[in-house]
Amino acid sequence: MAGAVNARLGYVRLASGLALFVYVSSHYLNHALGLISLDAMEAGRLVFAAVWRSEPGTVVLYGGFLLHMTLTLWALFRRRTLRRIGPSDVVQAVFGLAIPPLIIFHVIATRGIHEMHEVQENYAYVLLSLWQWDPMAGIQQTAAVLVVWVHGCIGIHYWLRLKPWYVRVRTPLYTMAVLLPVLALLGFAAGGREAARLLADPAWAARFRAEVVVGPMVEDWVYEARDAFRWLMLGIAATLLAGRLVVALLERRHIMIALAYPMSRTVSIRPGSMTVLEASRLGGIPHASVCGGRGRCSTCRVRVGPGADRLPPPSEEEARVLKRVGAPPGVRLACQTRPLADLTVTPLLPPGAQPKDGHARPDFAQGAEREIAILFADLRSFTKFSETKLPYDVVFIINQYSREMGRAVESAGGRIDKFIGDGVMALFGIEGGPEDGCRRALAAAKAMSENLAEMNRTLAHDLKEPLRIGIGVHVGPAIVGEMGYANAVTVTAIGDAVNTASRLETATKDYGAQLVFSREVATRAGFDITGLQLDRIEVRGRAEPMEIVVVPDAATLRVQP
Ligand code: FES
Repeated sequence: MAGAVNARLGYVRLASGLALFVYVSSHYLNHALGLISLDAMEAGRLVFAAVWRSEPGTVVLYGGFLLHMTLTLWALFRRRTLRRIGPSDVVQAVFGLAIPPLIIFHVIATRGIHEMHEVQENYAYVLLSLWQWDPMAGIQQTAAVLVVWVHGCIGIHYWLRLKPWYVRVRTPLYTMAVLLPVLALLGFAAGGREAARLLADPAWAARFRAEVVVGPMVEDWVYEARDAFRWLMLGIAATLLAGRLVVALLERRHIMIALAYPMSRTVSIRPGSMTVLEASRLGGIPHASVCGGRGRCSTCRVRVGPGADRLPPPSEEEARVLKRVGAPPGVRLACQTRPLADLTVTPLLPPGAQPKDGHARPDFAQGAEREIAILFADLRSFTKFSETKLPYDVVFIINQYSREMGRAVESAGGRIDKFIGDGVMALFGIEGGPEDGCRRALAAAKAMSENLAEMNRTLAHDLKEPLRIGIGVHVGPAIVGEMGYANAVTVTAIGDAVNTASRLETATKDYGAQLVFSREVATRAGFDITGLQLDRIEVRGRAEPMEIVVVPDAATLRVQP
């Protein structure tokens, strides 16, 4: 229940932040018109005011601000530890807290005097105030422009980076994120200079003073209101801090529970006092959290072990995110789970997880035992061949070869596991089962042979002799999952069956054949081996010799994926 409420509040915070971002963007666009003229700025301001000073605009703006500020303070209040928070989180939080004190004077001196004293302020008045009469206030507003913008952009980035399409639009968005505040500040400077020049003209100055009259009483009111707001903000901050200390003291009197992590690490917390993610941070345990604990990215997910039965059930939002990534039962979002009793947790993603890790992933990604077909292929005598070639030629040929082999595997419905130099490892049947996998692996071997023959024809002028390949295929149980580090994480398989497939590929050298596969592969694929050479070979780790099928030319196989 609490998780659901928090997730909903997170969306309200996001929506109110977006409304404020739209307001700020339109404000900056208005400033940028100063690059054209003061008149253009003023014309823009009339449109801007018509929108944001209308009743709906006022509700969205001030309602959004109050909601966003309150929910941000609440999120900070609920945070039990500030350890291991990323630098951009820190910048966003600090800049967010700095915004009210930075902008309050500007808000009172514009909207405040308009509402309370019916002063019809205009751009010239604001620009002269900041540019000519009180340059320190001008510097403060310049800082405010940047602080507000950086805070908003980090929030938008956090939100969008979980979207699969974000990578495609990132460059134009970054360009706009840099361009808009720069244009706004340039417009502000150009408008300020123009207003200062116009003020030197007695006729313009007289007209200006007649239009915008801000007497000493209004001026005094502005400073009094500013001071009152600053005291109010200080009071809110002090109350929150005091409240947090009281809660911490009360919580200290509770009994403790233990969260057990892999490698025998344990973190003690008070029941229900913090999320698993906060406990990881408290205990200095690296834990992925791409969205910063907002319950959106799923990268903090953990497998929960003993003690899971005493956890509150996932909220609707948490369940939705877990479903989106295809998480199996027993997996929870660490940032949304507050343990009430001892619990064993295992983070499922490495601390350096990327936003893409929050996209839907197959159920085997986190590790599963599957019976699959494994194919190994290797170019024969390629090392010797490469010694007689220029590095450029070697890379060119390897790339051509990798592309052709990759196509062969994919056209047969397999999954390339890895390329290592001139070697290829591919997996088949992870989802379709071993029978399907064996059929597809044999079809891939045939396609590889055909593609290589075609490549040899195309490169006949560049090759002293045709490239030759050896392919081994075996089927058996293997542990399948995403393994590796940072950008080098791929779906791969480990186990005896993998080693055996590699051994069969090596055996092609002994038989001078292009393909060797285990009899088991033929049986599972329903493949007719009549007329093919059969043999038995020793395989390390097997008590009995293994029955194999030897095929001199894999292109002659009669198989369909
Ligand atoms: S940190 Fe993103 S969902 Fe938990």
